[in-house]
Amino acid sequence: MANHTAASLLVLSASMCLWTIVATQGNDEAVLLAIKVAAIHGGCGDVLASWNGSTGGGGYCIWEGVRCRGSRQQPPVVALSLPSRGLTGVLSPAVGNLSSLRFRNLSSNALGGAIPASLDRLRHLHTLDLSNNAFSGKLPANLSSCTGLVTLLLQSNHLRGDLPAELGNKLTRLKTLKLSKNNLTGTIPESLGNLSSLRVMSLGFNQLQGTIPRSLGNIIGLKSFDLAFNYLSGEPPRSLYNLSSLEALQIQGNKLHGSIPAEIGSSFPNMSILSFSLNQFTGSIPASLTNLTTLQRIELSLNRLRGRVPPALGRLQGQLPSSIGNLSTTLQILHLEHLDGISGSIPSGIGNLVSLEVLGFGYTSVSGVIPDSMGKLGNLVRLGLYDTQVSGLIPTSIGNLSRLTELYAQNANLEGAIPTSLGKLKNLISLDLANNRLNSSIPTEIFKLPLLSKSLDLSSNSLSGPLPSEVGSLVNLNNMYLSGNQLSGELPDSIGECIMLQKLSLDNNSLEGQIPQSLKNIKDLVALGLSMNKLSGTIPEGIGTIRNLQLLDLAHNNLSGPIPISLQNLTSLSELDLSFNNLQGGVPKEGIFRLVHNFSVTGNNELCGGIPQLHLLPCHKNSLKKKQEKANEKHRQRVKSPFQPPIVEEQYEKVSYHALENGTNGFSETNLLGKGSVGTVYKCTFQDEGTLAAVKVFNLEQSGSNRSFVAECEALRRVHHRCLIKIITCCSSINHQGQEFKALVFEFMPNGSLSDWLHPKSSMPTVTNTLSIVQRLNIAVDIMDGLDYLHNHCQPPIIHCDLKPSNILLAEDMSARVGDFGISRILPETASNTLQNSNRTIGIRGSSIGYVAPSD
Ligand SMILES: *[C@@H]1O[C@H](CO)[C@@H](O)[C@H](O)[C@H]1NC(C)=O
Ligand SMILES: *[C@@H]1O[C@H](CO)[C@@H](O)[C@H](O)[C@H]1NC(C)=O
Ligand SMILES: *[C@@H]1O[C@H](CO)[C@@H](O)[C@H](O)[C@H]1NC(C)=O
Ligand SMILES: *[C@@H]1O[C@H](CO)[C@@H](O)[C@H](O)[C@H]1NC(C)=O
Ligand SMILES: *[C@@H]1O[C@H](CO)[C@@H](O)[C@H](O)[C@H]1NC(C)=O
Ligand SMILES: *[C@@H]1O[C@H](CO)[C@@H](O)[C@H](O)[C@H]1NC(C)=O
Ligand SMILES: *[C@@H]1O[C@H](CO)[C@@H](O)[C@H](O)[C@H]1NC(C)=O
Ligand SMILES: *[C@@H]1O[C@H](CO)[C@@H](O)[C@H](O)[C@H]1NC(C)=O
Ligand SMILES: *[C@@H]1O[C@H](CO)[C@@H](O)[C@H](O)[C@H]1NC(C)=O
Ligand SMILES: *[C@@H]1O[C@H](CO)[C@@H](O)[C@H](O)[C@H]1NC(C)=O
Ligand SMILES: *[C@@H]1O[C@H](CO)[C@@H](O)[C@H](O)[C@H]1NC(C)=O
Ligand SMILES: *[C@@H]1O[C@H](CO)[C@@H](O)[C@H](O)[C@H]1NC(C)=O
Repeated sequence: MANHTAASLLVLSASMCLWTIVATQGNDEAVLLAIKVAAIHGGCGDVLASWNGSTGGGGYCIWEGVRCRGSRQQPPVVALSLPSRGLTGVLSPAVGNLSSLRFRNLSSNALGGAIPASLDRLRHLHTLDLSNNAFSGKLPANLSSCTGLVTLLLQSNHLRGDLPAELGNKLTRLKTLKLSKNNLTGTIPESLGNLSSLRVMSLGFNQLQGTIPRSLGNIIGLKSFDLAFNYLSGEPPRSLYNLSSLEALQIQGNKLHGSIPAEIGSSFPNMSILSFSLNQFTGSIPASLTNLTTLQRIELSLNRLRGRVPPALGRLQGQLPSSIGNLSTTLQILHLEHLDGISGSIPSGIGNLVSLEVLGFGYTSVSGVIPDSMGKLGNLVRLGLYDTQVSGLIPTSIGNLSRLTELYAQNANLEGAIPTSLGKLKNLISLDLANNRLNSSIPTEIFKLPLLSKSLDLSSNSLSGPLPSEVGSLVNLNNMYLSGNQLSGELPDSIGECIMLQKLSLDNNSLEGQIPQSLKNIKDLVALGLSMNKLSGTIPEGIGTIRNLQLLDLAHNNLSGPIPISLQNLTSLSELDLSFNNLQGGVPKEGIFRLVHNFSVTGNNELCGGIPQLHLLPCHKNSLKKKQEKANEKHRQRVKSPFQPPIVEEQYEKVSYHALENGTNGFSETNLLGKGSVGTVYKCTFQDEGTLAAVKVFNLEQSGSNRSFVAECEALRRVHHRCLIKIITCCSSINHQGQEFKALVFEFMPNGSLSDWLHPKSSMPTVTNTLSIVQRLNIAVDIMDGLDYLHNHCQPPIIHCDLKPSNILLAEDMSARVGDFGISRILPETASNTLQNSNRTIGIRGSSIGYVAPSD
């Protein structure tokens, strides 16, 4: 019998797990290990409880995880299997003495150190699974001596350095090679093309560079080929298209360019997953893709596929081809959003893709009508037709999409009636048809959709008729936008039953009658817009009890009577517009009414009093005024100086416009950190302590930026977590020109945004502009921590709604913070429970689930 020094295996140990190694050698009495005792963590104590000292004979063969062959006195160990046992420490080089070992599985432990080169002595080893540990150092070239290897799994470790070319030379039996999720660098050796038995090659999530070697096209049996998320460049070699057995080809997330060959559809009869996204491919999408009848996933997004209209999507130039309907009936996701080159109409053959769950044409140039056959896609969960040129009627058949949870068709050219059949979409959570040319009344069926909770947006159409009392059935709805239509009649009292509403916008319609008292029941209302209607009567006092109200717009109506004093009790209110009504009596002076730029009462001819800047006549002494003054006095006792620029939230230390102006050197270009749609971010050095901060100044001329300010203030006021950007204060004041000035002051993040790192200015990857895999993982973990906190530990939960690399900021130590809460939403608790308990996705607001920002 060979030298069965059955070995002492593992382990120089980490402090927690102290292992004693007893190795008897030179005879058949194989001894493994005596045990460690002081186990505390990770199950160390129990793991090898059965490995308790020399038992003589073949006793070690019954130790946990050990398997021997034969029945002699000291049979050789052939298998060692201890996955997920909380093992720590390192793997002893003595492992090379287990010369009969065939199978070894130590996956999912916390073993570190190098992979011992002595493994090369294990000529019989056919399976080596060390995945999911903390092994570091280089991948030993000597592994190539384990010529019996069939399965080599080393993914999810910290291996670095080059892939040894030797691996390709002798491992002729290797079928599975997984090295993904390490820190491997250098190029992919040509020699890997010699691994003629290989079926699965997984090198994704490393830092490999250079081109994909042509030789890989020689591994004709290859089924799964994963090079995703490396730094590979150049054109993928044509030889890859010789790999006719491929079922998965994943090369997304590299810097590959070139075109996708026209014949791709005939190359891979068994292809199931094809991902080319996040590269720099150009040209057109090959029509032959439709011949890949087994395809389940195709991801082409975020390339530069544009220019000539892809013949792929049409034999007719410029059209989506009818052949699209010949794609596999097993296809579940067809996501073509944000591909500029896509145009033409949606062929009626689309109805053949009966497995589709996600169909996305959003942000393309697709036009024409929505085919009736769309109604056959009974598995569809999400349909995105927004920002396209689809026109004509919404087919009644859409009502057959009984699993649909999200329907986005805003910003298109749809016309005619909203079909009543939409009332059959019992799973719908979000419906957005805004900004089309729809011109019916709103079917009452829409208001009875039981799960409609995220958003109902029908704004900017030509919808007419009254708002029916059934609107009160939308008890879970968070946002209702019906502005910019021709709705008439009275606002029904039942609106107060929509108690989950946060945003209610009915501006710019022809509503008349009184503002319902019942609105006060909507306790979480943040924004209420009723401007530009024909509402009359008085403003209900009760509105002053909606404590989180931030925006109240009642302008351009026929409202009369006094301004309710209760409005000055609304501490969250930051925007109040009562202009152009017939309001009478005294203007309050406290709360929102303290600063002339936060509210407007112009165009009301019978108002008096208020702060001097309003230049209104003083009020006559009358009972109303007395009452008001009394209230004012009470208030004044608490407010120290009404002339200080008010700060949105008392808990923060105050900071003046001057301090910000001074700290940014007059908001100079040299301090510019970034520019967004709603504002500009500057680096600010405060005079007194020399502390650094980032100041986001809102561009109040940009519509929506005020709301964004309010949303961000409100969200950040509620959150405190190490993975979320920390707010120092909000500043709402007046600048030198007497204009309104709003800014948020954040902790300063010296390493900029994740986007800057993912898309460095210089295209040459260097240590100083490249994130290691570990850093990437840490960043991902931070982001998830932050989101987990927002979704599951915040009361009420908050949905960020705009998560993308440019909104992830990196601290000095490269830890990540989620920032920019400008369009975040605070969920009412019951709605969030509903959402959590269903298996629904909450997407990025108003646009696209699954859209990953390429950069911005
Ligand atoms: C060794 O482990 C076995 C199995 O767990 C146990 O039955 C036996 O009592 C242990 N012996 C010693 C000396 O700890
Ligand atoms: C492994 O084998 C080598 C040589 O055969 C020997 O020198 C060494 O001591 C052995 N190690 C153990 C732990 O058995
Ligand atoms: C190793 O063990 C884990 C856990 O039991 C298992 O999932 C994995 O498939 C095993 N590896 C091999 C190569 O059998
Ligand atoms: C690696 O293999 C080479 C050649 O097979 C051998 O000379 C060397 O000793 C091995 N290294 C170790 C650490 O086993
Ligand atoms: C990963 O590789 C990069 C580049 O070689 C290196 O800077 C980084 O320290 C490595 N990280 C780990 C954890 O090995
Ligand atoms: C392995 O591949 C390399 C490069 O492709 C080649 O030069 C070499 O001859 C091959 N070796 C074997 C043993 O096939
Ligand atoms: C594909 O395979 C065929 C036949 O084996 C061969 O003639 C051709 O050169 C290969 N194509 C490429 C690009 O390697
Ligand atoms: C495709 O899959 C079928 C069924 O699994 C198999 O018989 C066939 O050989 C495969 N085709 C290729 C080219 O690998
Ligand atoms: C699909 O395959 C058939 C048969 O191989 C071929 O005739 C046809 O041209 C292919 N279609 C496309 C669009 O390439
Ligand atoms: C304002 O709030 C205070 C305390 O919450 C309350 O006593 C008072 O009645 C309120 N005033 C109005 C006019 O609602
Ligand atoms: C900032 O304040 C300091 C001290 O008051 C003053 O010296 C400096 O000129 C100011 N800078 C700007 C840009 O106003
Ligand atoms: C959610 O999905 C899981 C697994 O797919 C399933 O077991 C569970 O029943 C689903 N829950 C609901 C509420 O649909």
